[in-house]
Amino acid sequence: MAVTVHTLSPALGAEIRGVDLSRPLDEAEVRGIYDAWLAHQVIVFRDQTMSDEDHIRFGNHMGKVGEYKRPKTMRSKALADYHESVMLVSNIREDGEPIGALPDGEMMFHTDTTYDQKPHKATTLYAIEIPSRGGETLFANQYMTYDALPAAIRERLDGCVAYNAYEFGTTIKTKERYDAPEMRSARHPVFLRHPETGRMALYVNELMTEQVEGLDEAESRRLLDEIFALQKRPEFLYEHRWRVGDLVMWDNRCTLHARRDFPREERRLLRRITVEDGAMPRAA
Ligand SMILES: [Fe+2]
Repeated sequence: MAVTVHTLSPALGAEIRGVDLSRPLDEAEVRGIYDAWLAHQVIVFRDQTMSDEDHIRFGNHMGKVGEYKRPKTMRSKALADYHESVMLVSNIREDGEPIGALPDGEMMFHTDTTYDQKPHKATTLYAIEIPSRGGETLFANQYMTYDALPAAIRERLDGCVAYNAYEFGTTIKTKERYDAPEMRSARHPVFLRHPETGRMALYVNELMTEQVEGLDEAESRRLLDEIFALQKRPEFLYEHRWRVGDLVMWDNRCTLHARRDFPREERRLLRRITVEDGAMPRAA
């Protein structure tokens, strides 16, 4: 069956049909999927039945499955049964302990592994259990926000580097500065040239970016707040309403994502695998 691509919103996102991710993909399928992902930034496959191994194989088709960057001590007991690169995102609790990371509630806009000096290019998330309402993921197109920046801000921040920090488990940033022992940090350009498409994207985010270096604190705060407001504009977003069996893959170099709140008492379970930068897509 041929791979077909169906746009999901004017801003970004496409659904890919005609693919069964429970089996290895051929060269043409890998190329078609990868090109659609570069073009649409977020791709969605519906009604998939994927084991842990299927998910790992898909990650390796798209590059190389990413190493788990969080401290090993933060892996729950439930993860002992999974591949070492798997992270569960879940509010399900066993013996009072969440089996996965980021269990409850709303999560601010961010992109994954920005706290690391070598972030992973893609994140893939597979839906296993989904609450009856809430928990949607909002994706924001960072090519569009870069293009929409006022010229004065673009000139002021051209060539600037920002300091990004993350305290694992934080979903809403409440402090200007994080300095807990579990915190990781990295410096990245404010404007990133996408290494594959060549397009410029904004690469700061509300959850992890603390300051633009070389600017005084007040100016940095003012410019970042203006950018964070721009990044949330509805015309730059695609909102994904999860269904069991969805596999979603997004580009961490040109999108942000955020999570809406959902009922604490309802179960939510997704399996996450990241894909490392650099490798070309591969068929099995
Ligand atoms: Fe995330």
